[in-house]
Amino acid sequence: MPTGKPKTTEGGPSSVLVTGGARGIGFEIVRRFLNDGYRVAFVATKANYVQRALESLRAPEDRLCAGMVDVTQQNEVERFVDQIRRRWGEITVLVNNAGISPKRVDQKVPWLSQMSQEEWARVIDVNLSGPFTLIRLLAPSMIANGYGRIINIGSLAGRAMPLIAGPHYAASKAGLIGLTRAAARDLAPHGVTVNCIAPGRILSDLTGPAEAAVNRSALSRIPIGRFGTAEEVAHLAAFLASPMAGFITGATIDITGGEFGA
Ligand SMILES: NC(=O)c1ccc[n+]([C@@H]2O[C@H](COP(=O)([O-])OP(=O)(O)OC[C@H]3O[C@@H](n4cnc5c(N)ncnc54)[C@H](O)[C@@H]3O)[C@@H](O)[C@H]2O)c1
Repeated sequence: MPTGKPKTTEGGPSSVLVTGGARGIGFEIVRRFLNDGYRVAFVATKANYVQRALESLRAPEDRLCAGMVDVTQQNEVERFVDQIRRRWGEITVLVNNAGISPKRVDQKVPWLSQMSQEEWARVIDVNLSGPFTLIRLLAPSMIANGYGRIINIGSLAGRAMPLIAGPHYAASKAGLIGLTRAAARDLAPHGVTVNCIAPGRILSDLTGPAEAAVNRSALSRIPIGRFGTAEEVAHLAAFLASPMAGFITGATIDITGGEFGA
């Protein structure tokens, strides 16, 4: 039975990189990994949320580090990863959590025919190409180290009829499942696992602004009878990052309260 923390290259605690860690699900993942003894680096795009997250976590600088980094900007990502490597050594766990689900001003989802090429491309860039960039950047050192954990945050919308999200979002999250499987196959011989967590409706800043009617109808489809919490998603991420999950790779794990779409 495997126990203990993943090995590190520096003899200190393992390092985790979480994208979109300033709020919502990502923030709870950051908090959970910190509590579990990891060094945690996170990136996000809004300075006020980053500041709020750092103030609320109040961890010392050798345990927590944040960067204003857009995952679609390869240079920014590379600079940040270099900085973390210089400070803490190699990153052993990557959580690709940053994601966007743009809605119109009335919070409705844009239909295909009303969607511009730019709207489509932006969502694919953040939700799918962002994880690709980070996996490509971090996998070589995980391979060299003989250990690594990659966790992609997908969505029920990538697995079932998307009822609340747009076509760009559903396609990006379905693509992330394919990327998870392909990366899992490549990396499995090197001690690196790659899995996808597919949340259903989770209470967060992303779902909060939805109309009451949208949330009521979403609730009616969840057999467990409530929305999930970001902490529950963080528990699952912590398990997948642990040595105990060493035989799970290429999997997409639903966390939906029993919902599986229409
Ligand atoms: N909340 C839900 O119900 C739900 C359901 C299924 C899947 N998800 C997925 O979970 C993840 C987190 O969702 P959430 O509800 O916490 O969202 P959120 O909007 O509350 O947080 C998203 C975070 O990602 C960051 N981010 C956005 N674009 C970025 C970029 N280009 N570069 C770097 N960071 C960026 C934001 O700054 C923010 O910190 C997303 O991938 C989302 O698709 C959420």
